[in-house]
Amino acid sequence: MNFLPDNINKYVVDHSQKEPELLLQLNKETWQKVLNPRMLSGAFQGRILSMISKLIQPNNILEIGTYTGYSALCLAEGMKKNGLLYTIDKNEELEDFAKKYFNKSNYQNQIKQFVGNALDIIPTLNEKFDLVFIDADKSNYGNYFNLIIDKMNPGGVILSDNVLWSGKVVEEINPKDIDTKALIKYNKLLNSDDRIETVLLPIRDGLTISRVK
Ligand SMILES: C[S@@+](CC[C@H](N)C(=O)[O-])C[C@H]1O[C@@H](n2cnc3c(N)ncnc32)[C@H](O)[C@@H]1O
Repeated sequence: MNFLPDNINKYVVDHSQKEPELLLQLNKETWQKVLNPRMLSGAFQGRILSMISKLIQPNNILEIGTYTGYSALCLAEGMKKNGLLYTIDKNEELEDFAKKYFNKSNYQNQIKQFVGNALDIIPTLNEKFDLVFIDADKSNYGNYFNLIIDKMNPGGVILSDNVLWSGKVVEEINPKDIDTKALIKYNKLLNSDDRIETVLLPIRDGLTISRVK
């Protein structure tokens, strides 16, 4: 979802870096062949992820929610020369699609793809992370945070996507809407946990940056 008027949104996109060719292809093929293509971060948010990663220059990145691999490739752009990106998705049907694009990229040997439930896989990772992107099932965001916070290096950054949830976080809550309830709780958690500093950016569907102290 975009919160900006269309003309301002267009101006913003027109005055930002263009989507690299490989990502353009990945974006296109996702829209042609994969269910729920709206889940993909998209060109503008992708450039933001790339820029944040380039500013951090992480050694180790963790992504929760690979989908077709778009955001992974954006985040990989900022990785250190020998850095590694770990990306997890439970949907095994998307594994080969993402792998095909990882193999075409410059980061072929630096991306470790995991298929399975992130709640099971994260505890098996022994690395410390400089950058984490949380972009999977919303009802588990709090659980993901609890699993990764002790795996973060000081100064590390946790990015959380879709935290405005099309604006539902400020509307009357449908008691059956588990995702909105979870995100409201999660946004409060991020803004009250003493171990991090948090800014919620009203970009696309809401992107929170939390810096570990
Ligand atoms: C919004 S999409 C990710 C989009 C991707 N980060 C991008 O921007 O291109 C969310 C993904 O999370 C995955 N997912 C949902 N619950 C999960 C879980 N418990 N463990 C691992 N992956 C999960 C889904 O299969 C889906 O592919």
